[in-house]
Amino acid sequence: MGMRVAWLRRRVAQVRARPGEFGIVAAALLVVSGAIVAVAQGPGVAQPIAFNHRKHTQDLQLDCELCHSYVRTGAHPGLPSLETCAMCHQATQGTTREAARVTELVAQGRPLTFEKLFRLPPHVFYTHRRHVGIGRLECRNCHGNIALTTRPPARPLVKIRMGFCLDCHRRSGQTRDCIACHR
Ligand code: HEC
Ligand code: HEC
Ligand code: HEC
Ligand code: HEC
Ligand code: HEC
Repeated sequence: MGMRVAWLRRRVAQVRARPGEFGIVAAALLVVSGAIVAVAQGPGVAQPIAFNHRKHTQDLQLDCELCHSYVRTGAHPGLPSLETCAMCHQATQGTTREAARVTELVAQGRPLTFEKLFRLPPHVFYTHRRHVGIGRLECRNCHGNIALTTRPPARPLVKIRMGFCLDCHRRSGQTRDCIACHR
């Protein structure tokens, strides 16, 4: 892909010298770079069960901590295992095919492993304990409305970049010291 980008840059330089063609090539470039971005993003995260947050958090009023147990006390909240689902899905729940699949997995004693969606690089220090347990921030601040989704999102609803952390730290008078977040 690097080679292709270099080629595009060269081509733009050539065309800039000949203004007439520029519009056409610029339009073509947009299409090509769009395709490159789409390929680079990949298919996203796929989950083993089409979990429905809205049904469980709104209709059934379940607390986040039932499934994300360490959200107040740990760095990582954790994702639920089949034992948590089995509390209710050992018996048939509702009428959907997907709910029936959960009950089948429980009956077969199969493990169920959900994939992580939000992810920071390893050089960043972040804990939920500090932000949720002590700072009492709402999940929505950083995760958007994931609690209202009816199927697992393939990509994070919020892009958590350094600027995102720094913006809130600036607004709330928290640290912007490099060492606080990079240990
Ligand atoms: C406290 C009980 C409870 C727990 C725990 C629970 N569920 Fe459910 N779940 C239900 C009930 C009740 C329904 C049926 C609601 C309805 O159809 O009205 C349901 C429905 C579903 C459905 C169908 C959703 C849809 O779109 O209709 C899926 C899939 C599902 N659950 C997966 C899971 C998974 C996976 C877990 C574990 C991570 C889990 N549930 C944990 C009670 C629970
Ligand atoms: C009954 C279990 C259950 C409850 C209750 C629940 N979740 Fe989840 N959560 C899941 C499952 C299963 C996944 C992975 C599949 C998905 O993304 O839908 C998940 C994924 C997530 C993720 C993405 C985690 C990652 O891998 O980066 C966030 C954020 C999240 N939940 C927030 C919440 C919030 C906020 C609440 C409470 C308002 C909540 N959840 C309540 C089961 C639950
Ligand atoms: C200040 C921002 C922030 C808030 C507030 C926040 N989270 Fe997170 N959450 C993150 C970040 C950043 C990650 C990814 C961390 C990593 O890479 O391990 C994450 C990851 C997760 C995960 C993935 C599972 C895991 O063990 O890593 C879950 C589930 C989750 N958060 C749930 C919640 C819930 C539920 C709440 C509210 C009670 C909440 N979060 C509040 C920033 C936040
Ligand atoms: C929505 C606001 C918000 C966002 C977004 C946010 N933080 Fe924070 N952060 C806080 C608050 C508030 C505290 C102080 C909590 C307390 O102790 O009461 C804090 C504290 C911290 C601390 C402890 C600082 C110290 O003095 O030791 C670290 C480390 C930290 N945040 C890292 C991060 C990282 C990394 C991100 C991005 C992934 C992030 N924060 C995103 C609000 C935020
Ligand atoms: C409040 C938390 C926070 C503070 C303070 C912070 N960073 Fe970061 N930084 C992050 C997060 C989160 C990432 C990873 C996400 C990203 O790449 O944007 C990151 C990524 C980086 C990267 C890697 C960028 C890349 O493209 O891979 C560098 C380099 C960096 N930070 C340097 C610094 C320096 C230098 C400072 C002090 C001036 C600083 N950071 C302060 C949270 C923070």
